[in-house]
Amino acid sequence: MVVYVDKNFSPACLLVLLLFVVSSYAKFSTMVTTDEIRTLCTKAGVKSSLCFEVLKATPEIAKLDFSGLAKYLINYHAQNISDTLKQFKLSGGYIPDIDSEYRLCKELYKDALDKCPYALKYLAAKDYYNFKFMVAQTMGDMNNCIYDELSTMKPVPQFFITKTNDIQEIGYFIIVFVDCFILNEPIDCGNSRDL
Ligand SMILES: *[C@@H]1O[C@H](CO)[C@@H](O)[C@H](O)[C@H]1NC(C)=O
Repeated sequence: MVVYVDKNFSPACLLVLLLFVVSSYAKFSTMVTTDEIRTLCTKAGVKSSLCFEVLKATPEIAKLDFSGLAKYLINYHAQNISDTLKQFKLSGGYIPDIDSEYRLCKELYKDALDKCPYALKYLAAKDYYNFKFMVAQTMGDMNNCIYDELSTMKPVPQFFITKTNDIQEIGYFIIVFVDCFILNEPIDCGNSRDL
């Protein structure tokens, strides 16, 4: 059997091979590594313990690329917001009274929860500006819940303050994650809390 090899075949073949290698390398390199998670979780302003807890190595996280992880984090964020909203409703009583306990926080949590599907939509569209804007809104809602309601209550509901603060922190490192690993904006990469 004679295999005819054209002179022009070789470079073309090499090119195909090269493209294959480059694309598989690119694919491989976009998976989030434990080093990258450590980088994120030890950035200035990021609450490390919480970040490591949320991103603790699981087979699920190991399979994610950057946008997959951003999506995972938004779903996690939404779940936390929804769980805590339920707890507010339970401890605030069942009477749908306008002056019921945690009225403001319940509204703010509802608002924050409503932002999550939009965040996912913007993420899918690679519209990171609006994605970050949506996440920043959830952080603002958490902040207002603490300062305008929880911290004015007597006694101060420490449980809810801690939860709300943690949810705000999760929002913050979602933004840092996008800045550092998707947008590669070293200036905004966790060095400042100004959004
Ligand atoms: C967020 O949800 C996870 C998983 O359900 C839970 O372990 C964690 O305590 C929650 N965090 C907050 C701040 O609610």
